[in-house]
Amino acid sequence: MITIRNLTVKFNDKIILDNISMGIGKGEFVGILGPNGAGKTTLIKTILGLIKPSNGTITIDNKSISEYMNRKSNLIGYLPQHAIVNWNMPIRVIDAVMIENIKPFGLFRKYKKDEIESAKYWLELFGVGDRMYSYIKELSGGQQQRVSLARCMIHNPELLILDEPNTAIDAVYNTKLYEILKELSIKNRMTIIMVSHDIGAVTKYVDEVMCLNVKLHCHSKANKINFSTVLREVYGDDMEVVIHGDGCKNCALNRGNK
Ligand SMILES: Nc1ncnc2c1ncn2[C@@H]1O[C@H](COP(=O)(O)OP(=O)(O)OP(=O)(O)O)[C@@H](O)[C@H]1O
Ligand SMILES: [Mg+2]
Repeated sequence: MITIRNLTVKFNDKIILDNISMGIGKGEFVGILGPNGAGKTTLIKTILGLIKPSNGTITIDNKSISEYMNRKSNLIGYLPQHAIVNWNMPIRVIDAVMIENIKPFGLFRKYKKDEIESAKYWLELFGVGDRMYSYIKELSGGQQQRVSLARCMIHNPELLILDEPNTAIDAVYNTKLYEILKELSIKNRMTIIMVSHDIGAVTKYVDEVMCLNVKLHCHSKANKINFSTVLREVYGDDMEVVIHGDGCKNCALNRGNK
């Protein structure tokens, strides 16, 4: 679905992404890992056409990003790393979810039945269905993040791009979130690109892992990655890789403490 060829991005002559080439198939769930400043957000923004590359090409379904988006609006759901919502605005959760549907002077129009149904569905899926008519400023940070996720989904996008969706989300719900994303990629054949620092979980749920640090250090099936080598290469020698499994003493100790 997405083909990236020889992509180089520079800011003020500094190379941020260096000659990246890769492909992402339809319905694939891809996790992007890499340390702070590795260029993960830059890569995502370049795919979205928000940053112009110095070199190389990106196509989605063999089209440039603008041609792809002109085909039909709302083909892409995007959750930025930093929320662009002003959470102090005096609007309700349902208005925040619908924000891209709202035409000028339309803020106080009544929503159509199917729009409300759709908002309800996604808010319930993300565990905040009961807050649909609350003011957004009354929600906790994690609840606001779930509303942002629902906003990305409202048009059932073909391509979902999430830049650190787990920010402010608690550990229990994190697992649920990954399960939801995995199911969307399988059942709805939604292509999902997710940046996360949650290495263990990412590799457990995604189909493909990309390890990025200016260069693309690896792009392969999660179960085929040699973690010790690749993660040390990407994160540096201070990275200690501990594989947890049935025989893990610490896991057994933790279980015993509960
Ligand atoms: N608009 C910009 N102008 C100049 N430099 C930028 C700009 N945006 C990002 N950079 C630089 O590009 C590099 C990569 O930034 P990017 O935000 O892509 O990293 P990241 O991998 O997403 O990191 P994090 O995990 O902290 O979110 C950083 O060194 C950053 O300072
Ligand atoms: Mg980032």
